[in-house]
Amino acid sequence: MSFDTTEHNRQRNCFDGVESVWLFGYGSLIYKVDFPFLDQRPATIEGWARRFWQGSHDHRGTPDAPGRVVTLIEAPNVCCKGMAYRVSPDVFAHLDVREKNGYLRFVTPMIFADGTREDGLVYIATEDNAAFLGPADDADIARQIAASEGPSGRNRDYLLNLATALRAMGDDDPHVFALESYLR
Ligand code: BEZ
Repeated sequence: MSFDTTEHNRQRNCFDGVESVWLFGYGSLIYKVDFPFLDQRPATIEGWARRFWQGSHDHRGTPDAPGRVVTLIEAPNVCCKGMAYRVSPDVFAHLDVREKNGYLRFVTPMIFADGTREDGLVYIATEDNAAFLGPADDADIARQIAASEGPSGRNRDYLLNLATALRAMGDDDPHVFALESYLR
């Protein structure tokens, strides 16, 4: 099952006359930076939790055997740490295709380590998208990740790369680290 959001995202934001935009990354955008950027700063967004609740039919799984990748779920009083990149709007032509399996671009307030704030764009796969899998026990999620592989590689490498990158940023994400422990 998949829902290609490429066209939807293309029409979503008007970048006329805009030289650069902040992009907030909380998943693979933290460790797989295959796009040019003008600046890079750790940042946090408030009221969102990172969860392995989105199916991956195109990168870390297949249509018949989807893997699991992260999306953001609204969660009052929870902060999600990630990496913000200041990018040229041209970059979205590439990222909209890379993240086409159910993700839409939203505007979010971001807080940098020095307390300053900027708005950024963030890709979120909402619960109503066709590839959304939703919650499951950590052990079951870890089992699905361990068994999945797709054109971009093993699902376990996605999880382990993300956990390593978050640890390097000094983040403590109980959901990601619990899944990492099950996997190891
Ligand atoms: C991210 O790393 O911010 C991201 C996660 C899932 C889809 C698109 C982007």
